[in-house]
Amino acid sequence: MSLISNDKSWKYSNFIENKYFNFDRDQIFSILSKNEIDSAYKVISNWENYSSTPLENLYKLSSELGLKKIFYKDESKRFNLKSFKALGGAYAVEKIYQSKKNITVSTATAGNHGRSVAWGAKRLGLNCKIFISEFVSESRAEAMRGFGAEVFRVKGNYDNSLKECIKQSKKNRWEIIQDVAWEKYELVPKLTMAGYAVMMKEISDQINKNKISHIFLQAGVGGMAAAMIAGCARYLEHIPKIIIVEPESADCVLKAVEKNKIVTLDIKKESLMGGMSCGEVSTIPWKIINNSCNFCISIPDDKISDTIKLLATSSFSEKKIIGGECATPGIISLIASCNNNKLKGKLNLDKNSQVLLLGCEGDVDEELYQILLNK
Ligand SMILES: Cc1ncc(COP(=O)(O)O)c(C=O)c1O
Repeated sequence: MSLISNDKSWKYSNFIENKYFNFDRDQIFSILSKNEIDSAYKVISNWENYSSTPLENLYKLSSELGLKKIFYKDESKRFNLKSFKALGGAYAVEKIYQSKKNITVSTATAGNHGRSVAWGAKRLGLNCKIFISEFVSESRAEAMRGFGAEVFRVKGNYDNSLKECIKQSKKNRWEIIQDVAWEKYELVPKLTMAGYAVMMKEISDQINKNKISHIFLQAGVGGMAAAMIAGCARYLEHIPKIIIVEPESADCVLKAVEKNKIVTLDIKKESLMGGMSCGEVSTIPWKIINNSCNFCISIPDDKISDTIKLLATSSFSEKKIIGGECATPGIISLIASCNNNKLKGKLNLDKNSQVLLLGCEGDVDEELYQILLNK
């Protein structure tokens, strides 16, 4: 596998250091409290068929890159939903159901979040209405129907599907279970994040006193990244260097960190990393990410297919790992950083580094996975 180190085709697009960095546990807990994080773990770890997803050691890759260890959290094994999103939407459905009972839930989604909401609704015997844009594949829609949801396709992009979801939910008195926050809509996105933070609790148990030096966190609207940062604050003594990774075509967190305020991007080209193709960081996650990430990096789509193949052919570790498109950006940006001496130095990546990467999803979109695997 000595093809990777020094192979300059593993590129990043943009990189910035956060000038406003000031990691403050109390400030983070003022947005997502210890109690909210702990409650989510207590509830989810009692769900039927719950078990921690594996934390793989990508020892072949770490030796190639001259790092001490690379941990890879394999979310392809999350329940039977194949992505970390299973932890968020379904947990929010349960919490809202507990306070309101007889409800119909609704959401707009790029795929994985909706699948989680549909699954959560099915567990509790609730009706579920899902709104998707014209860009969401039919196989993702079918998966949601498989959990009993009614799926509505809306012309245009994700924003259009969200607008239609809000309109129809108001009219029909459905409970919106959205992973994005807006004015006076903060409880559900917070519950969703609390659910995601379960990953960090599991990781803190799995690393067995190893100190994580760096964590690469994928971002779409920033919910998962912020949840993991809150999880670091809750469960880790030593706070690693936090690096946010985004597609070059949808680097809304990078732009917000650069300008120290939320910016809205006009996405010209949808990234293959569909779940991360978002034009604006969500308000609640922003309040956490804002001062807590050290760096932001963006990457092109070029190496997604290679990375999927390398994961699948046990080129990074002993195991064959099924990683979908959104599972790749941590690996891609880490390799790109290590192959650039200036960046490697800036990030302090060296033989003592123990890096944590998130394998956010498996072959959720099986058709796309096969295309990328065989490209
Ligand atoms: C499948 C998938 N969807 C969505 C996201 C983005 O999550 P969020 O919108 O909470 O930042 C990710 C990871 O970043 C992902 O892997």
